[in-house]
Amino acid sequence: MAMANTILVGAQWGDEGKGKIIDFLTEEVEYVVRTQGGANAGHTVIIGDKQFVLHLIPSGILRGSASCVIGNGVVIDPINLTEEIDGLAKSNIDVEGKLFISHQAHLVLPLHRALDRAREAAKGNQKIGTTGRGIGPTYSDKASRTGLRMVDLVREERFRERYTARLAEANRHLEAAGVETVSLDETLPQLLEAGRLLQPYVTDTVDLLHRELAADRSMLFEGAQGTLLDIDHGTYPYVTSSNTTSGGICTGAGVPPTAINAVMGVAKAYTTRVGEGPFPTEDSGLTDRLHEMGREFGATTGRPRRCGWFDAVAVRYAVALNGIDTIALTNIDGLDAVETLRVCVGYQVDGEETSCFPKDIEDLANATPVYREIPGWMTSTEGISRWDDLPENARRYVELLSELTGARMGIVSTGPERDQTIVM
Ligand code: IMO
Ligand code: MG
Repeated sequence: MAMANTILVGAQWGDEGKGKIIDFLTEEVEYVVRTQGGANAGHTVIIGDKQFVLHLIPSGILRGSASCVIGNGVVIDPINLTEEIDGLAKSNIDVEGKLFISHQAHLVLPLHRALDRAREAAKGNQKIGTTGRGIGPTYSDKASRTGLRMVDLVREERFRERYTARLAEANRHLEAAGVETVSLDETLPQLLEAGRLLQPYVTDTVDLLHRELAADRSMLFEGAQGTLLDIDHGTYPYVTSSNTTSGGICTGAGVPPTAINAVMGVAKAYTTRVGEGPFPTEDSGLTDRLHEMGREFGATTGRPRRCGWFDAVAVRYAVALNGIDTIALTNIDGLDAVETLRVCVGYQVDGEETSCFPKDIEDLANATPVYREIPGWMTSTEGISRWDDLPENARRYVELLSELTGARMGIVSTGPERDQTIVM
C-alpha cells in the first residue's frame, strides 16, 4: 500500500488543481508536507457537497489518517492559521495529533501584509499583482535575517520584544510611504493569542520527518504555486518569493533529495495565470469561454484568471527543472466544447524559432507561439474515470501532450471530485 515518497509540483503558473490531486493521493500516504509559500496558495478540495479551500494546512488533513506537516520553508500567518483550524473544526475536522508546524517557519505578520500592499501601490502599473498576503515582505525579512519565526512566537517575552522592534521599523517605512501604520496595541495581543493556540502543534519537524523516513513512512510533499512562479526559474520579477520547484521543496522540508522517489507535476489541460506578467498563449476567446462556464476564478483572491492554450514549451521546461516523471493532467473537461484546440510547440523570438523557454521576460513577452492545431472532442468528459471511456480525440490530445512534454501521463482528472479521476 505504501506509496513512494513523492514531490508534487505545479507545472505552470499555479492553480493547476494541486488540491484535488493531493486529496486523491493522500489515501495512500502517511504524511503530507507543505514546504514553501504561505496563504497565497489556495488549494480547493471538493468532498460531496462541501468545498474546502486550504491556504496553509496541507490538503491531506481532510480525510484519511495522514499526518500533516507545515515545514520550515512555509511562511505562516499565525492569525490566518488559527482561523483555518477553526474553520476545519466547524466541519468536524480535528487537526489535533495530526498537524505539526515547524518551529523554524517564518511568520507573516500584519506589517508584512501592509508592506505588500504599500509596495504594490507604489509600483502603479508596474505592479506584480500579488495576492496581498504579505509573502514577498516576509521572505525579504527572512533573507535579510530580520524575520521572526514560530519559535519566537511561542516564547512570549522574546516575541514581545522582537515584534515591537520590527514593527517600529516597519511603521517608519509605512509612514514614509504615506500609508496607514500597524497598531502595536491591537496586533500584539492577537498574535500572542494565536501563538498560545498554535503552541501544541509547534515542533522540530525536520527531526520528525527524519525519524519517520527512517521508519519507512510514505510522504507526499505538496508544492504550492507553480514552476513558472519560482523566484529563480520563473518569469522574474512576476513571480512569487519562494522556490516552487522540487529543489526548493527539499529545502523547505529539510529532507535530502535522496529521500525522494518520484516527482509528479500537475498541469491543466490548458494554461491559466493570475496576476501580471507575460503569458504567450493567453487567449481572450478561451478566457471568456471558461469564465462563462463559471471556471477560473481565484480560490484565494477571487480574481478572474487569465486563460490560454496549453504551452508545451513551458511544461517541458517544468519537466526538466523539477525532474517530473509523471504528469497529472487536470481540467480536461474545461475543453469539452472547443472545436479546434491549439497547443504551443515552440516560439518565434526575433524571427527565429526556438523550443526553449525564454528566461528573460522581455524575450518571453515578444515570443509568438507556434501552434499545432488538433480537433476537439465536442462531448462531455466530465466525471469519466476510465481511459477507454474518453472520446478518441481527447485521448489523442492527452497522448500529444505527453509526447510534447516528455513526461508520462499518470492521472487525468475529469472533475473536482475524487472519483472523477482516470489513473493510467
Ligand atoms: P496556488 O498554490 C496562482 C501569484 C500571484 C502573483 C504572484 C506573486 O493556489 O497554485 P505573491 O502573493 O505570491 O507575492 O504573488 O504569484 N500567485 C499565485 N498564482 N496560484 C497560486 O497558488 C499563487 N500564489 C501566488 O497572483 O502573480
Ligand atoms: Mg490556487
